[in-house]
Amino acid sequence: MIKLNPLLVSAALLIASGSAFAGDVSFSRGYTFEERSGQSIYENVCQGCHMADAKGATGAGTYPSLVADPRLAAKMYPAMLVLKGQGAMPVFGDVMDDEQVANVVNYIRSHFGNAYTDKLTPAEVAALRPPKKP
Ligand code: HEC
Repeated sequence: MIKLNPLLVSAALLIASGSAFAGDVSFSRGYTFEERSGQSIYENVCQGCHMADAKGATGAGTYPSLVADPRLAAKMYPAMLVLKGQGAMPVFGDVMDDEQVANVVNYIRSHFGNAYTDKLTPAEVAALRPPKKP
């Protein structure tokens, strides 16, 4: 069965329209990712832009390389980016739970020439989220 990844569909539209404005990549309401491991999340979600080798790409937009990336040294930086997005980097906070965010951040920080050993925990991700409405 062919399962369409809605992110990749909208990312393709984003590239097709040549637009690089924030907020153009959006998810269907209520959509959440099923993948659990950092590797499967990376392969299904992140590599569409950052590429399988994490070297990034330049074309309709610029997707930074995550290879040997000194900006991953502080685990809260990638955690915030994945949760809240920035520029053409989508907001994943609504489509991933705390554990998924932690898993994919820990994956990129320990692969692609990165060897940071301190782990981001789901509790730390939770603390970055805005307080829940009562
Ligand atoms: C639709 C394309 C797209 C997808 C999908 C995407 N990113 Fe990004 N990412 C970007 C762009 C564009 C930037 C640069 C943002 C900026 O600073 O303007 C970025 C920046 C980053 C950075 C900062 C790198 C640095 O050196 O500053 C990290 C870390 C990152 N992304 C991780 C991820 C992870 C993990 C995923 C999967 C959960 C992901 N990205 C999915 C487009 C994407």
